[in-house]
Amino acid sequence: PITPVILSGGSGSRLWPVSRKLRPKQFLPLIAADRTLFQSTLERLEGIVDKQPAVIVCNEEHRFMVAEQLQSIGQTHQGILLEPVGRNTAPAVAVAALSLLEKTGQDPVMLVLPADHVIADVSAFQQAIMQASSLANQGYLVTFGITPLSPETGYGYIEQGEAIIGFDNAWQVAAFAEKPNVEIATAYLNGGKHLWNSGIFMFKASTFLHELETYKPEILAACKKTLAQAQHDLDFVRLDAGAFRECPSDSIDYAVMEHTRHAATVPLTAGWNDVGAWSAVWEVSERDAANNVLRGNVMTHGSGNNLVFTEDRLVTLVGVDDLIVIDTKDATLVAHKSKAQDVKQIVNALEAEG
Ligand code: GDD
Ligand code: MG
Repeated sequence: PITPVILSGGSGSRLWPVSRKLRPKQFLPLIAADRTLFQSTLERLEGIVDKQPAVIVCNEEHRFMVAEQLQSIGQTHQGILLEPVGRNTAPAVAVAALSLLEKTGQDPVMLVLPADHVIADVSAFQQAIMQASSLANQGYLVTFGITPLSPETGYGYIEQGEAIIGFDNAWQVAAFAEKPNVEIATAYLNGGKHLWNSGIFMFKASTFLHELETYKPEILAACKKTLAQAQHDLDFVRLDAGAFRECPSDSIDYAVMEHTRHAATVPLTAGWNDVGAWSAVWEVSERDAANNVLRGNVMTHGSGNNLVFTEDRLVTLVGVDDLIVIDTKDATLVAHKSKAQDVKQIVNALEAEG
């Protein structure tokens, strides 16, 4: 059986002012008007043979949103694990793996999915999952590799090794480098041997826990403790705050993927986008004849290549190109599309002000 594990603890600060701490991007209908990114993540798994209900790992502040959004698309689950604080993705995956082993008495293949990605070609995606599933059953930690387009420094890079004999479209991972600097990323891009890590993983629960025990035993120990002392509250599993606070904060990429010698990669050509910033929302959304993406009460004249979202007020553009204009009740963002990543700087400054 394949069990999806949905990671939805991120805050999405580059999508401010729509994405907020209490309502981060994965819980918003950012691309489709009637589905949040979280819901689309679950729905694009429909039809996968042997798929079990998902496990959700999220911040406890988001528990009702998660439960409601599951219910409104008619999805059941195998546990909503609530983190009292964020400790990044390695502990989140570890508590999911431990809880599944305990709950099912089996060793399911986990399909770890960030809750905030867009994938245009669902059938190509599902095909890659089926290829990865047989690798995961053989004890591999499977990554899904994306052909890189730029020397992006916010991604992990997978060095593609030898083809794995007996499998279709599967390669050894010769090395994994998380978030390299721009010189190294450029060398990887030009070398032609690297893929971007999509952040989607597949492995048996026991495979992951074994690697975690080898490379980060402190994380595994803290996760065992937080789960043993967890409180079960209806649908929710409240991880023990004391034990979880003591857990080191680390991502699965640094904690395990950079070290493991059992990684494989399945190239994924399916229109993957991690919707990191407003410019990506523009890229993956349907555009009008002037290449604008307009949502809400918007009028434009002689303006192209813009993204405009407004919650309430009428917003009008005249003679401007390549802008991002986001108008909400209490904040307005105007940014050049090429600087969309820098919205994070505003959020950081606001947080520093308190
Ligand atoms: N439950 C939980 N708890 N989820 C978390 C936490 C946490 O503490 N931290 C992050 N997440 C979720 C985020 O919501 C997101 O869906 C996913 O885990 C990945 O976290 P990011 O913070 O977005 O990671 P990243 O973008 O820096 O890097 C990862 O993704 C890239 C592709 O988008 C890495 O896997 C990179 O190697 C990869 O290239
Ligand atoms: Mg991300």
